[in-house]
Amino acid sequence: MNRRIPVFTDDPGWHGKRLQQAFAARGYEAVFISLKDCQLNLQPNEVGIKIPGFEDRLPDGVFVRGVPGGTLQQVIVRLDILHALTMLGVRVYNDGRAIERTVDKAMTSFLLHLNAVATPSTWVCESREQAHDIILRETMAGRTLVIKPLFGSQGQGVRRLEHGIPFPVPMDEHVDGLYYLQGYVDSGEGVWHDHRVFVINGRAVGAMVRHGSGWVNNVALGGRCEFLPASGEIADLALAAACAVEIDYCGVDIIRDRQGRLYVLEVNSIPAWKGLQGVVDIDIAQALVDDFLGKLGSEQSMRAVVL
Ligand SMILES: Nc1ncnc2c1ncn2[C@@H]1O[C@H](COP(=O)(O)OP(=O)(O)O)[C@@H](O)[C@H]1O
Ligand SMILES: [Mg+2]
Repeated sequence: MNRRIPVFTDDPGWHGKRLQQAFAARGYEAVFISLKDCQLNLQPNEVGIKIPGFEDRLPDGVFVRGVPGGTLQQVIVRLDILHALTMLGVRVYNDGRAIERTVDKAMTSFLLHLNAVATPSTWVCESREQAHDIILRETMAGRTLVIKPLFGSQGQGVRRLEHGIPFPVPMDEHVDGLYYLQGYVDSGEGVWHDHRVFVINGRAVGAMVRHGSGWVNNVALGGRCEFLPASGEIADLALAAACAVEIDYCGVDIIRDRQGRLYVLEVNSIPAWKGLQGVVDIDIAQALVDDFLGKLGSEQSMRAVVL
């Protein structure tokens, strides 16, 4: 039994420290490693993946706390490493497929739609003409749209297509040749807010309301956090979203319109929880580590039974 667990991250920070403490509390050592430093090593008699510090024996599991951005080739190989580890029997948490499905807002939206989980109307297209037609049609019908970068996070590049704002050009850094358009959900002009629900293993373990100073409510942009009981219809919707993208744990963003209807905005597979930790009692890092370690145990014993 290997008591060392790689935590993939390029920036351990506060979250890394919390995870390290939570692993230590269970007798494990968390080792911070960048996915950039891992390698495919496909020689005869080699296991195939080299993780620094784990050359002799692959770990039982890895905790993914960050997949660094890069060129398309670099990102694909970083994900290849996660997929390959899963294929080699290493428990990857969250696994590469779940990270792919959720980092890509288009696939998340599709899966929510497919599974009848309430989410705002969304359109994704490359053609500027098609995007133009959608925006024109929706605006004429009195509806407002938002445009988001496909791989965005922390509210960066999320914009409302207001009347009079020039139509975003494909070269715009946040458009990057792709239009992800979504119906704007009005949570209350001047009292903007949305909800974040933290789901671990099919259970809503914590939730908060985020009050933004504008309509983009991310904590990274100054959204103020307030405790929200992790129960009732908001929790149920978050669980349905987590189930739709098949994920071990996630942070689900949910917004309520003025008529009281709830919509899932996105699912985060590498969510920050510093803001949430400030308003809930449960130790989120410990809950994550315990779920992860519990899954290691069960999968190892399952493998033992199969063998
Ligand atoms: N369709 C929408 N209607 C209203 N507000 C939205 C919509 N989409 C995003 N927002 C606001 O912008 C924030 C960031 O959007 P989100 O989809 O969560 O992307 P990010 O990955 O950047 O967090 C949300 O938390 C919410 O406050
Ligand atoms: Mg978000």
